[in-house]
Amino acid sequence: MPGLEKLTRGRLAYGGDYNPEQWPEEVWAEDVTLMREAGVTVVTVGVFAWSWLEPRPGAREFGWLDRVLDLLHEGGIAVNLATPTATPPPWMAHRHPETVQVAQDGRRMATGSRNHFCPSSPTYRRYATSIVRDLADRYADHPALRMWHVNNEYCETCHCDISAQHFRRWLRTRYADDLDALNAAWTTAFWSQRYGDWDEIGTPRDTTYLRNPTQQLDFRRFSSDALLECFALERDLLRRRTPDVPITTNFPGLATWVPVDYRRFAAEEDVVSLDWYPDPADDDAHVSSALAFDLMRSLAGGRPWALMEQAAAAINWRARNPTKPRGLTRVQSLQAVAHGADMVCFFQWRASTGGAEKFHSGMLPHSGPDSRVFTEIRQLGTDLARLSEVVGRTEPARVACVLSWDSWWAASQEAHPANDLDVLDQLHRYYEPLIQSGLTVDVVPPDADLTRYSLLVVPNLYLVSDAEAHRIVECARSGGHLVLGFFSGIVDEFDRVRAGGYPAPFLDLLGLRVEEFCPQPEGVRLRCVSSELGDFSSDLWVDRTRPTTAEPVAVVRGGELDGVPVILRNRCGAGLAWYVGTRPDQQTLRRLLGAACARAGVAPLADPPPGVEVVRRAGLLFLLNHREHPAEIALAGSWRDVLSHGRFDDRIPLPGYGALVLRPIRDVPAASGEHSLEVVDQVPHAFEETAPGGAD
Ligand code: GLA
Repeated sequence: MPGLEKLTRGRLAYGGDYNPEQWPEEVWAEDVTLMREAGVTVVTVGVFAWSWLEPRPGAREFGWLDRVLDLLHEGGIAVNLATPTATPPPWMAHRHPETVQVAQDGRRMATGSRNHFCPSSPTYRRYATSIVRDLADRYADHPALRMWHVNNEYCETCHCDISAQHFRRWLRTRYADDLDALNAAWTTAFWSQRYGDWDEIGTPRDTTYLRNPTQQLDFRRFSSDALLECFALERDLLRRRTPDVPITTNFPGLATWVPVDYRRFAAEEDVVSLDWYPDPADDDAHVSSALAFDLMRSLAGGRPWALMEQAAAAINWRARNPTKPRGLTRVQSLQAVAHGADMVCFFQWRASTGGAEKFHSGMLPHSGPDSRVFTEIRQLGTDLARLSEVVGRTEPARVACVLSWDSWWAASQEAHPANDLDVLDQLHRYYEPLIQSGLTVDVVPPDADLTRYSLLVVPNLYLVSDAEAHRIVECARSGGHLVLGFFSGIVDEFDRVRAGGYPAPFLDLLGLRVEEFCPQPEGVRLRCVSSELGDFSSDLWVDRTRPTTAEPVAVVRGGELDGVPVILRNRCGAGLAWYVGTRPDQQTLRRLLGAACARAGVAPLADPPPGVEVVRRAGLLFLLNHREHPAEIALAGSWRDVLSHGRFDDRIPLPGYGALVLRPIRDVPAASGEHSLEVVDQVPHAFEETAPGGAD
């Protein structure tokens, strides 16, 4: 399977989306000159160019694209060639209105924006495969072609009649043509929803009151699969024509809105890639970024991934869109590299002067090359060129956080005990202390090989299948350590409660039984006491827990829940399982995860001040200051910054938004009696994590 190495060729790939169709041809030559000046090695071309390639049904206009690709190739710039299928031309909607998405309320969308196609439409699919086939035929042998970028940010869901038919076909496969099985899985005995014929089933459009949760969950799964079918159609055509060219599609971030199951997509593509737009106004954005980046590396099976899009300065789609302060783009880009990216790109090369994104920054801003933004873009090109030694290498992790798409989708539905329980926020809270201590953390699904990890952190796993639960239990029994958050193990894969005490699949593992959920009113903080972690407060949720074999680590003090254990620990086989039945303050969660790491034999790499990250990759230490205030990091030994060549000893100053990439050096007496510096290619042993310890 070809990977990013086709593009990197020993050097981090650097560039952005290039939309030459927005500019007169005279500008193209200047673009290439400036790209070279900035150290750009690759551009993504043609993402939204369908109406330029096929101005009329069946017509082909490739001449302009030939010239663009030739020009880029002459300039030594590689091409990540996009299929334009995210945005069908206006003629398609005009001639075939059924190719346009229908929203949950039954309204058909209008055109005039983008991403408006119905993934189930055979007409859309026919036109899409036809243009993709012709693109592949035309450019298969073009020397600039180094990667295929399929579609853009797959995210469409559709409630039209064609989609409903497709949904029914998907359901018949899922339930092996057994309508009784579907009725049981969807609990249609409730509210007289029992289906007597497949044709009675629709997509979960707007209803009078609450909708069937399993119907909604299956629709999510179906919608993701329908898009995956679209991806696979294109991929197969491209792969047949160019088996050596890697294929990717760019994932649309990691926010509350994640429409496709990245894990299933990642398994079908050659390169995992992400679009990522951290909010410059969010002081903790770097934690979300690290989490998303670690997820990408994990989805890629530990191989390098691609940061396909980010902003050089401001974006234009939040309520307020501040520019990025000087240095922030650099530190954010280096952060992606630290977490395993081998490709750092932007949306887009040249800022548009018209259209919906004219106030979205580009690498080359409206003000031109003589600008702060372009100066930083050039600097970044120089920095990335100095980091070739990391290419193709990533860091193995001994700690993993678990994230399941099915569970996330199910937990995010309405009519739950606490509808403001946010799975991503919960993951973020547990993940933050881990990266703050410099650990490499994988983010994996519950059906991954979990026994590889010394510590498994499961912040929330509301929905768990029997097989997944079994893997988690086995991980602990075979000596792994586990931290499990509340409202986990509650329902099966059909979103049906597992009765008999929560969390049913983990009762023995945890040595406890949760009788009742006690979500707390907004603003209420409970007092909890713990001789081990210190007293603390918690909010949102408390489980009424009864230990069987578990040892209480913290209990509620005062009120109706006085004495209820909220943090517990239980030995399980050779491993140890912690249960967290509330939402402790972040300080306490840090202490708890510190204790869990220590017991699992995972030593922290560093203890930098808040906002500073220390990340290890390929024998180098990345020191990243994500905040505006200068910081100082204590790191025993002598170090050389690979980017500036500066030397540092023991205490390392980092300016606001500063970044260093350090290689350890040691003083070696030279033959002349003078001292010279010898470079060692591994981070010294003191920075290695310790071997797994016992369960005490
Ligand atoms: C997405 C799209 C890009 C652009 C950016 C703007 O990531 O893929 O085409 O619209 O958003 O932030």
